Amino acid sequence: MSHPTAVREAVTPIRPVHGSSPTPTWHRGTVLEHAPVADRYQYLCLAAPTIAALARPGQFVMLTVARDNQQAPVLPRPMAIYRRNVQAGTIEVVYGVVGDGTGQLATFRPGERMLIVGPLGQGFALDAQARRVLLVGRGIGTCSLTTIAQDLADTPTQVLAVASGRDATSVIGGPLYRGYGAHTVFEVTDSDGSSNVDSLRKLLTSVLDGDPPQQIMTCGSERLAHLCRELGDRWQADVQVSLEAHMACGIGYCHGCATGTRSGPEESPLICKDGPVFRYTSGVGA
Ligand SMILES: Cc1cc2nc3c(=O)[nH]c(=O)nc-3n(C[C@H](O)[C@H](O)[C@H](O)COP(=O)(O)OP(=O)(O)OC[C@H]3O[C@@H](n4cnc5c(N)ncnc54)[C@H](O)[C@@H]3O)c2cc1C
Ligand code: FES
Repeated sequence: MSHPTAVREAVTPIRPVHGSSPTPTWHRGTVLEHAPVADRYQYLCLAAPTIAALARPGQFVMLTVARDNQQAPVLPRPMAIYRRNVQAGTIEVVYGVVGDGTGQLATFRPGERMLIVGPLGQGFALDAQARRVLLVGRGIGTCSLTTIAQDLADTPTQVLAVASGRDATSVIGGPLYRGYGAHTVFEVTDSDGSSNVDSLRKLLTSVLDGDPPQQIMTCGSERLAHLCRELGDRWQADVQVSLEAHMACGIGYCHGCATGTRSGPEESPLICKDGPVFRYTSGVGA
C-alpha cells in the first residue's frame, strides 16, 4: 500500500459541504477548574458562554497565556474543545505541557482569567444519514474528536471509538465516550502492542467488516490517518482528518499554517481557517 509522504498533501477543504462556521468571539474567561489528568495531562474548565453555545465538533480556541503586563508568550496557543456545556456556559480543554506556552498555561489557578478566542476553524461535517461513525484518536489528538461523541449522544447514530496512546496513562477519552453512550470503545496502547497499525487493522476489519461505518474521523497520528484512509476505501466511507500546525493567529491573517497542498495557483489551504478538519481523499490510485 503506497501512502503520501504527509497526510496534508492529500486533503481537501470540506467547507462547501459543511457550510459556514459561526463567527468567532472572545471572552476574558475565568478558570473554574484546573487539575492533572492521569500522569501526563491537565484538565482545564473555563467560563466562556458564547463559545460554548457556538462551538461545533472539531473546532478549537486560541488561549492567551500571558497575564496582563507579562511579556511572553505573546502569541496565543490553539487548543481543541474537549467538551462544552451550554447550560453552564463552560468549555473544557485537556492538554499536555510541551513548551513555554503550555508550561505557562499550567500555572493558571481557579479564579484567574485568560483571553479565549473562538470557536475557530472548520470542524467535522457530520452526515445525519450516517448509521455508524468511527472515531480514531491518538494521544492528545483524541481531544478534537470527543465533541462528536457529545453531539451524537441520544441520536440514532452509533459511535465506535479508538483511543490510542503510548500506555494506559496517555489514552484519553474512554470514560467520556462511554458516558456519551458510545457503542464500542477500543482502548489500545503501544505498551501491549495493541496500537500498532497491523493489530488495529486486524481488529477493526474483523469487528466492522460486516457492518462498517459510513464516516471515519481521525486526529493525532499520521499512521492512523493512513489506516483510516485505507479503511475508508475498503468500506466506501467518508474520511475526515483534523490536522495540527504551529499557529500564530488562528484566524487566517498570518498565513503561517498553510497545509502545503496546492489548490490551483492560489495559496494552499490554511489549517486554522480552511481546517483544521479536512476531507482525506481516497487513496485508490494514489
Ligand atoms: C487545532 C489545534 C488543536 C490543538 N489541540 C490541542 C489539545 O487539545 N491539547 C493539547 O495538548 N494540544 C493541542 N494542540 C497543540 C498545542 O497547541 C501545542 O502543544 C501548543 O501550542 C504548544 O505550545 P508551547 O508553547 O507549550 O510549545 P512550543 O514551545 O511551541 O513547542 C514545544 C514542542 O511542541 C511542538 N509543537 C508545538 N505546537 C505544535 C503543534 N500545533 N503541532 C505539533 N507540534 C507542536 C514543537 O515543535 C515543540 O517540539 C492543538 C493544536 C492545534 C493546531
Ligand atoms: S495561524 Fe495565522 S493564518 Fe493560520
